[in-house]
Amino acid sequence: MKVTLKIHRFNPETDTEPHYDTFTIEANPNDRILDCLNKVRWELDSSLAYRMSCAHGICGSDAVSINGTPALACQKLIKDYSSSQTILIEPLKFFPNVKDLIVDLQPFFKRIKSIQPERPAQTSTVPLEKERLQTPEERARIDDAVKCILCGCCVAACPVILEQEQRFIGPAAILRAQKYIFDSRASDSVERMHVLEKPYGIWGCKSYYMCTLVCPKNIKVTEQIIKTKKKIIHELHPSKQVGEL
Ligand code: SF4
Ligand code: FES
Repeated sequence: MKVTLKIHRFNPETDTEPHYDTFTIEANPNDRILDCLNKVRWELDSSLAYRMSCAHGICGSDAVSINGTPALACQKLIKDYSSSQTILIEPLKFFPNVKDLIVDLQPFFKRIKSIQPERPAQTSTVPLEKERLQTPEERARIDDAVKCILCGCCVAACPVILEQEQRFIGPAAILRAQKYIFDSRASDSVERMHVLEKPYGIWGCKSYYMCTLVCPKNIKVTEQIIKTKKKIIHELHPSKQVGEL
């Protein structure tokens, strides 16, 4: 079958404004969007720039916007889209565009760093004689956050990022903090909850659920954010309700 792709192009060395190029290629319904990008680059235009590495939904590097929705190009198939319509492929929204489909991830990692992932976990004052074990139930509390591949799709889909002029910490950073706050082996969850309460932190989240809808790892992002809000209320503001903060 023939597939037409309309792809965002921008070369900072030659272009003052972005534009779109359209390519029609031969593809199979089971081909992935990433296969199509490869085909364009290998057969039609070797200057097309995009990121990819694992090609199997593990590394998160090929996150792009497909028909306006953030997704991993290696996870979406041609048959997921209408065969009669052009497929629009653009860089992730809210990320500075570096070239074609490549974005600058520095602002994203700045958000992640703002929750202080490098804080040494205050695990125990008692000298350890063996590894710190978790029960399956304790591990299950952080399973979702551990699955995150830091692809950025949730941030590109989050309406609050736009509403708060890119100042909002974003769903991926809150999810990362959730991992530390709910880890049964750590004892610094109170400090970490205070970090999340900084301006443009967790209380900016309005539960639009867009992060959950687009997450390629099927993480219940919004649910984990709500659980974290409830824990903060319970432990730091017991006299308040979620809506009051
Ligand atoms: Fe990507 Fe999901 Fe992690 Fe967001 S929560 S960065 S969408 S894997
Ligand atoms: Fe690694 Fe798609 S290329 S997730």
